[in-house]
Amino acid sequence: MKRRILSALYRADDFISGQELCEELHVSRTAVWKTINQLKEDGYEIQAVSRKGYKILSSPDQITGEEVGARLRTKRLGGEIHYYESIDSTNNEAKRLAEQGAPHGTLVLAEKQEKGKGRRGRVWDTPGGSSIAMSLLLRPSLAPGHASMVTLVMGLAAARACRELCGVEAEIKWPNDIVVNGRKICGILTEMSAEMDCINYLVVGTGINVNQQSFPEEIQDVAASLLGSSGKKTNRASLAALCLDRFEEYFEVFLGTEDLTGLEKEYNEMLAGKDKKVRVLEPGNEHEGISRGINRKGELLVELPDGTTEAVYSGEVSVRGIYGYIG
Ligand code: BTN
Repeated sequence: MKRRILSALYRADDFISGQELCEELHVSRTAVWKTINQLKEDGYEIQAVSRKGYKILSSPDQITGEEVGARLRTKRLGGEIHYYESIDSTNNEAKRLAEQGAPHGTLVLAEKQEKGKGRRGRVWDTPGGSSIAMSLLLRPSLAPGHASMVTLVMGLAAARACRELCGVEAEIKWPNDIVVNGRKICGILTEMSAEMDCINYLVVGTGINVNQQSFPEEIQDVAASLLGSSGKKTNRASLAALCLDRFEEYFEVFLGTEDLTGLEKEYNEMLAGKDKKVRVLEPGNEHEGISRGINRKGELLVELPDGTTEAVYSGEVSVRGIYGYIG
């Protein structure tokens, strides 16, 4: 009920009358009034004016199911939302829910992760109160070999959402880190359960540094937050919801061809270090070339000194810009 009222309040540009709320949600005036009061107790500032109705003035910066769910414009994603104040890892929880049969589009959100996971076995820090930790459970009919591209689709969605909502020059560091001014603000970890020829489920986990004022010493040279980059605080639920809205749009395009044909142009426009030197960290064969952007399979095209172009697959090697973190 809270989520439905909030959703209607967010959708209305101006005041929405009690009558309209009752008709839209098929509930009584008293139920609306009670829920509005509960929301006020939860920290929402809601203006009530007689003969005009209700208008939302401000909301607490929370990453709860109510806050994110009320802002979502998706068709299928976020149909089921699980929120935790603290959890080991939202990816782990999404996998547990998947094993219990949770449906496609289930979203797991957490204020704090005790054992947040990064790629390549690294740790991902999610202090409470300032960042986004969310994992999306997907059950696509997709060949397992195409699953790694879903991470790039989320990268594109997250970069787009950061640009739209926060006005920062978010770029994608191939394959799927989001950087602003060369510092990482977002990381994505996709995990898969599959048979030889079909995917049981995918869990796409996204961590975004939103309102952090500072970072632990070990990462302070490479990490940044949207607050540090834009100078403005961002409502985390709005950003998470926008990220999922964009992901749903891009994911539909992706599923149309099962590759990045319809997205590679936009991806390359946001790619950090395009047409600049990169170092390909292939074990035993490190070399340099010029980054020419991704192809429809999500591989990075690197032009070599002899004029030929190689396609680098993200699962095998990583690529560094040669000047600092992204080059
Ligand atoms: C990386 O860049 O190394 C990937 C970081 C992914 C972090 C997110 S936060 C939500 C989800 N839960 C996790 O434990 N990890 C991902």
